[in-house]
Amino acid sequence: MSIQALPGFRDFYPEDLAVRSHVFGAMRRVALRYGFEEYDGPPLESLDLYTRKSGDEIVGQLYNFRDKGDREVALRPEMTPTLARMVAPKVAALKKPIRWFSIPQLFRYERQQRGRLREHFQLNCDLIGEAGPAADAEIVALAIDVMRELGLGATDVRVRISDRRLLGGILGELGLDEAQRGLAFHALDKTGRSEYQARRKALADAGVGDSALERLEALPGIRTWADLEREFPHATREGEPLRAVFDAVEAMGLGEFLDLDLTIVRGLAYYTGTVFELFDAGRSLRAICGGGRYDGLLEALGGVAQPALGFGMGDVVLTELLRDRGLLPAAPPSAEVFVAAVTTEDRPHVMALVHRLRDAGFRVEYPFGHQALGKQFKLADARRVKVVVVVGPDDRARGQVAVKDLARGTQEAVDSERLDQVLGQLGCVTI
Ligand code: HAM
Repeated sequence: MSIQALPGFRDFYPEDLAVRSHVFGAMRRVALRYGFEEYDGPPLESLDLYTRKSGDEIVGQLYNFRDKGDREVALRPEMTPTLARMVAPKVAALKKPIRWFSIPQLFRYERQQRGRLREHFQLNCDLIGEAGPAADAEIVALAIDVMRELGLGATDVRVRISDRRLLGGILGELGLDEAQRGLAFHALDKTGRSEYQARRKALADAGVGDSALERLEALPGIRTWADLEREFPHATREGEPLRAVFDAVEAMGLGEFLDLDLTIVRGLAYYTGTVFELFDAGRSLRAICGGGRYDGLLEALGGVAQPALGFGMGDVVLTELLRDRGLLPAAPPSAEVFVAAVTTEDRPHVMALVHRLRDAGFRVEYPFGHQALGKQFKLADARRVKVVVVVGPDDRARGQVAVKDLARGTQEAVDSERLDQVLGQLGCVTI
């Protein structure tokens, strides 16, 4: 009986892991350039952590069970509650603003479809302790710069951005009360999707009149600040923080990535201000990244009030987009240097040399048993090494080895003590 991976779970063969490392490497470099520190938390948490604040959609997708100690637990579906839980007890001692990032694996029992699996990795970058829009701009710019680091530009990805405070102002201007506003957020979140009609009906059932519904449905058409001022002049004040975010992102030279989009609400329950999502420009894929400001979450989970914001950027959609655009590098060779022995007597010398080169940081392979030179070269070729070093009795007698550059097809005799230097000249790097 053959047992396969569960639906929605991935095996990472070495070539897949090379792709993942490429993506994580870009994420990590950019986060570090922004002065963020890396953290991690446990993959299994108390169920309560999510039922309190994450929102119904995510709670419905939890992998949860009762453990052997009779605790209700869940695999983490997102990182933000863990972050809030970790920061809350230490917040007084931590120098603010806190800039932390993590690349956790997350688990959601979702219907499997393109870009959606039951596990994914997610770069999380969060900033805690800063209420002003400069922090929002920093977080949005960080997300954009990860795209740029991977070779994607403003014609490939768009940041669709809004602000729940501004949306609140607009809904207030339309005369919606608190309960109706919640329903309107739900409806806006599903704009353009099949679920929208049911959400619209819920709004109508809650007493929202036709003219308010019509104006709500005109929100996707508002694309500029001028449109906003014309349509909702009284919400201008609530739009100021978002305008300041636009100005700051433009000052950084990244303004061309931004689209004002009032249908962006975000499904998670804890967002309070700026909300944004990154999509491929053609909108053929699901969201690459989502985030926003969640000023109340630390207080709800840990009793300390701190402004906070951040984003989660998944690896699944991003990798699909990079593959579509031909931006994924070929898997690197497993070794750069192969050391071959001419005779059985050379093998102890090969082992000593291999060990010396590995100590120096080169990536080196050699055959485990004695083989004809031709066979050893075949293995070296299959491994795509740059250089084969041949150890033979005659060269050894002169304190030399033969160095063959496979790409150029050249061969030279090299004094053993100069070998490291020659390998460097031939492009082999140390790690
Ligand atoms: P989210 O929108 O639920 O936000 O997820 C963020 C991103 O993770 C999505 O845009 C998507 O790329 C990826 N993602 C989510 N679910 C799946 C899935 N089932 N399969 C593949 N990829 C997926 C959050 O999780 C927030 N906690 C982000 C955040 C951090 N907000 C503030 N700080």
